[in-house]
Order: sequence, then C-alpha cells, then structure tokens
Amino acid sequence: MRSLLALADLIVDPSRINDLTPDEARAILAQLATLQAPLLAKALATPVAYVQGRSPLELQGAIVVQSKQCRNCHSLGGEGGARGPALDGVATRLTRDQLIRQVLQGGGNMPAYGKNLTPAEVNALVAFLQTLRPANQPPARTPVAMRPPARAE
Ligand code: HEC
Repeated sequence: MRSLLALADLIVDPSRINDLTPDEARAILAQLATLQAPLLAKALATPVAYVQGRSPLELQGAIVVQSKQCRNCHSLGGEGGARGPALDGVATRLTRDQLIRQVLQGGGNMPAYGKNLTPAEVNALVAFLQTLRPANQPPARTPVAMRPPARAE
C-alpha cells in the first residue's frame, strides 16, 4: 500500500524519489516496471517507445530526466525545449563515457550537473540515455583511435 501511494506521489512529482529510502525506491521502481507501457509513458511523460520493456534502473533514469528538467532544453519524441539537441537517438551519437561527461561537466551552453546528481542518479540517467536509439541502429562506439592501446601480454 505504502508503495502504491509513493508511486502516485512520484507520478505527481518525480523529484520525490529523493525522499524515499533506497529500499523503498527499489520497490517502487520494480513496481513501475510492471505497469503497462501506455500508463508508464503517461506517468513519466516519456514516449511509449522509450519506456516499453525497460528495466527499473532505466525507468529511474527517465524519472531523473523529468525531475532535473532536462526537457526544458531537450526534446524527446518531439516534446520539450530546443536549446539543446533532441535526445532521441543520442545513444547512436555518444558513448556511455561521453554521456557521463556531458551530464557531469555540461559545456556548450549546458549547465554542469556534477554537483546536482548523486552517483546513483547519474548511473540511472545514463542507463536511460543509452536506450535512446532506434532498434535498428547500433550504439555509438569509441573510435578506434581513441581507445587505450592494447596492452602487451
Ligand atoms: C539550459 C539548457 C539545458 C539543460 C537544462 C540541459 N541541457 Fe543538455 N545540452 C544543452 C545544450 C545547449 C547542449 C549542446 C551542447 C553542445 O553543443 O556542446 C546539450 C547537450 C546535451 C547532450 C549531448 C547531446 C548530443 O547529441 O550531443 C546530452 C546527452 C545532454 N545534453 C543531456 C542532458 C541531460 C540528461 C540533462 C538533464 C540532467 C540536460 N542535458 C539538461 C542544454 C541543456
């Protein structure tokens, strides 16, 4: 019961996830993941395609996007601001490391969120951002030239 109420709170105000203990948050996120996609999409104001079949961690990331108001500057599924690039397909452009760097350090007119996000939030956020690509397009990869040299055995 408590988790259902907390779920309702989260739908009204996603930033309330910060008021929960880690165990409560986990229970609620697991419950979120069982909701049907259209309901979930509505609750998280995120296109159905980006919530369907996602893990609790990834859904937590969608909540972070909402609660940190990333959408003021970025659109998803055509909704949201235009000061920054649309985040649809961002996982085809940036690797996990690049996503983390962009979020923590900002740059190019984006504020840095390093002091504004817990490591758990960054982890969830980036897990969600990494899902933002069409199923038929591969995730971004680190260019070969940028990979650390293979170590001699
Ligand atoms: C005040 C506006 C603003 C806010 C709020 C904002 N961003 Fe940005 N973001 C930008 C701008 C502008 C860029 C482009 C930066 C550049 O060109 O170097 C950007 C770039 C990005 C990129 C790289 C996109 C690409 O295709 O290269 C990602 C990922 C990103 N932002 C994620 C986020 C996330 C996640 C949040 C919320 C935690 C957020 N942004 C909040 C303005 C914003």
